[in-house]
Order: sequence, then structure tokens, then C-alpha cells
Amino acid sequence: MELAKGVTVHSISTAAPTPRMAPDAPFAADMDYADAARTHRDFARRAVQYCLNQGIRQFVDLGSGIPTVGTVHEVAQYHQPEARVVYVDSDPAAVVHSKAMFTGNERVAMVLGDLREPERLLANTEVRQQLDLGKPLAIFAVAVLHFIPDSDDLGGALAAYRDAIAPGSHMVISHGSEYVAPMWSDDARSIHPLVPRTTQQVAGLLAGFDLVEPGVVPIQQWRPESPVPTGPAPVRSYAAVARRP
Ligand SMILES: C[S@@+](CC[C@H](N)C(=O)[O-])C[C@H]1O[C@@H](n2cnc3c(N)ncnc32)[C@H](O)[C@@H]1O
Repeated sequence: MELAKGVTVHSISTAAPTPRMAPDAPFAADMDYADAARTHRDFARRAVQYCLNQGIRQFVDLGSGIPTVGTVHEVAQYHQPEARVVYVDSDPAAVVHSKAMFTGNERVAMVLGDLREPERLLANTEVRQQLDLGKPLAIFAVAVLHFIPDSDDLGGALAAYRDAIAPGSHMVISHGSEYVAPMWSDDARSIHPLVPRTTQQVAGLLAGFDLVEPGVVPIQQWRPESPVPTGPAPVRSYAAVARRP
């Protein structure tokens, strides 16, 4: 989806199930971008509130994209004005847009960076100015890890974050499911082909963390605020929150 010249939004939307689907699996055939984006934002909001309830006041949002409404700092600072947030994205356009929106908020920073380089990111001056790595923080990776193939050692990167952050810190992820067609790999505008993963694979990314209940679940089922309708529902994405022991 192109919003303006040079500004691309990477979507996990899809038009049809893939041959990878189990015959009786719930599927995501009717998925659309706006709905998917809302679902991930809603999960992120619930996860921010969960982390605040655990006493966390500092956040890193990896692959933050172009901020819309209900961003991590909006939710966190609404409840806890002292909360600090560092956004990270590898897209220079997202960084420019974000910086313009955060002007004047001294507890928010926007960093151009690649989540696959944890040591470099965590050594970044702005990150160090905003965050105290000796205290628990929450790292969000919402709707982004499915753009990183295993061959880029995503597991190693997440393990490096885990080892660098204080006990009691949290990792928050949402991830495209195996039922989502990798249509973006066929889209000439996509610079990040989609890498869907199963619940087991998503759980594997969180090795060494303790999964917070209810574990890796369809995204709507992660601590919903109101009952989630029962029956077959599209499993487009999984979500999980995990605690560093
Ligand atoms: C689908 S958007 C998700 C944006 C936001 N997290 C949300 O839920 O609305 C994915 C974002 O991840 C960014 N991204 C992709 N690969 C990345 C990487 N290796 N490091 C940092 N950001 C990355 C893209 O530039 C894009 O802005």
C-alpha cells in the first residue's frame, strides 16, 4: 500500500488461502489491510496496558512503521506520563514521518535501525538516553517479525535482546500465521517478503522467555477485553507476550 511517494506500508493482508492450509483449517480469505492493522494495534494496546500493570515504564517498538492512532507512547503515556518509548524502523520514510509527529515529546525517540542488529541498536545513543537497560522494559515487535526469514538468524537476534535486557522485561510479538498467503512476496512494491510461522515456530522465537498466559494464541484471543466470538474464525496472526526470567 503506497500512501505517498516513497512511503510504503507493508501489509499482511491476503486474498486467498494458500496450498499450505490444512483442509479443515480456519482461513483468512477475507482478510483486508485495514482490519489486520486494527487487530495488531488493538493487541499492542492491550499488551502496553499489561506491561504497565507489571510496573514497566519503558518501551522499545521495533518495526514501528508510520504512527497512526493508539501508538505505544500514546497508550503508555496516557496511563503513565513518565513512560518512555523508543521507536525503531529500518524505513527512512517511517523515521521522517514519525519524528515529525513526536516533536516536543521528550520521552519519545525515533531511531533508524534494523531489528536484526540488537547490539548496535541497544548501543545507540538515543536509545541509551531514553532507556535504562538495567531496569525492566518491554520490547514490542508487532507485525514485523514475519518479514524476517530464519536465514537472517531471527532467533539469534531475539536471544541477544533477551540476554541484554533486565529480568522482568517483556517481549511482545504479533506474527502472521501459516494461514496467510505470502502475497507480498509477489508484489513488486514489497521489500520484505512475508515469512508466515506456526504457533510452534512463534513460540520457538521466544526461547528462554517465560510465556505469559494464554501463550501463543490467535491475536484476538490474547487477553481480549470482551468475549471473542466462538466458532471458526480467521487465524491471520498469532500474538504472545513473554517475560524474561
Ligand atoms: C507492517 S509494518 C508494522 C508497523 C507497526 N508495528 C504496526 O503494527 O502498525 C512493518 C514495519 O516494519 C519495518 N521493518 C521491516 N523489517 C525491519 C527490520 N529488519 N528492522 C526494523 N524495521 C523493519 C517496516 O519498515 C515497517 O515499517
